[in-house]
Amino acid sequence: MPEVEAMSYEVKCFECGRVLKEEKLDACPTCGGLLNVEMDLSSLRGMGPKQLRRAPLGVWRYAPFLPVEASRAVTLLEGGTPLYDCRALARELGMDRLHVKYEGANPTGSFKDRGMTVGVSKAVELRCKVVGCASTGNTSASLAAYAAKAGLGCVVLLPSGKVALGKLAQAMFYGAKVVSIDGNFDDALNVVKQLSREGHLYLLNSINPFRPEGQKTVAFEILDQLDLEVPDVIALPVGNAANIWAVYKGLSEWKEVGWIERMPRLVGVQAAGSNPIARAFRQGRSDFVPEEHPETLATAIRIGNPASGKKALKAIYDTGGLATDVTDEEIIAAQKLLGKTEGVGVEPASAASIAGVAKLRRQGLIAKEERTVCVCTGNLLKDPDTVIKHAGQVLKAGASVDEVKRLVLG
Ligand code: F0G
Repeated sequence: MPEVEAMSYEVKCFECGRVLKEEKLDACPTCGGLLNVEMDLSSLRGMGPKQLRRAPLGVWRYAPFLPVEASRAVTLLEGGTPLYDCRALARELGMDRLHVKYEGANPTGSFKDRGMTVGVSKAVELRCKVVGCASTGNTSASLAAYAAKAGLGCVVLLPSGKVALGKLAQAMFYGAKVVSIDGNFDDALNVVKQLSREGHLYLLNSINPFRPEGQKTVAFEILDQLDLEVPDVIALPVGNAANIWAVYKGLSEWKEVGWIERMPRLVGVQAAGSNPIARAFRQGRSDFVPEEHPETLATAIRIGNPASGKKALKAIYDTGGLATDVTDEEIIAAQKLLGKTEGVGVEPASAASIAGVAKLRRQGLIAKEERTVCVCTGNLLKDPDTVIKHAGQVLKAGASVDEVKRLVLG
């Protein structure tokens, strides 16, 4: 572990700036606004990122930027995921350099583990006994695993029939109480928020301001893996809209302490059927109109009323970035292209970042020379049904050399 322990911080309202004393809140008691952790980074100014490199690449290398004690972390050794230099994919998209940050390599197969190691550590610190969330799947899989590790009770609410098989299996396997809600993610989030406000559980959706604190470490890792060269663009899928904010927050902190000199442009990509942020961006707005009936086969981002939408828009506007949307067909095409050209398997929502970059490249909104990183948030095996439906056919043969030859060599 690094020599510097957790820093002091404040929980503040993102909208009215009120400083909160109570750490279990999910919104500002004055204005209802989103909450945000503000770290005191003053003592880091004389240091540099290389001084943290004695610890292995991973979330806890960056303990000085985290609002919990590293020595008491609930950890499954999350982060430290590969950054692939995708030469063949870059050629296909007409780009000089394109990297994929493969978050599917996390312990439960998605980027959520970065936020959960911090969020569940905070839950333990606050002496909570039961944690809970609403989820399109990955958050529930991750929370269930970290709750198991910490010995906490866990309740997860899932939109009925719209959670990919691998994620459902994970949540059930780790011993969470799994409730299928007759409604979409937005409905499930409203229910779990109420349970939290009544004191039945500690809410670990990404409106919990400690979650993005863990998730911001993906930005630190990208910079470390590029040997501190700042990329021109970082593209991410956007669902409930906290992760793009987390990346922005991480980058801003390294800029604040003088560890990088400029920010990359942040690009948020939504599915066309669940696209309130992309619509707001097209209209130049800093708020958004929710989508009442979100639809997309990328079920991870099938969200109509992104809880952190305002933060996401700030991240995009402040960096001169972009928001866009892509069709389900474009998502599947990008998922297959990544697999075929690079041997990297991601779930549909993750492929949205690739599909979005491909579209913006075609439109000339990302230049050929712009060094781009796509954050691919979840593992291919999360959603085997969609893969099998779109991956082509299995050839059938008797146990005969001739028959197999005819099929595969003919
Ligand atoms: N990619 C994957 C694989 C996800 O599971 C999610 C969100 C996102 C991208 C979007 O991230 O919400 O921070 O904008 N999944 C949440 C869940 C909603 O419940 O697992 P975001």
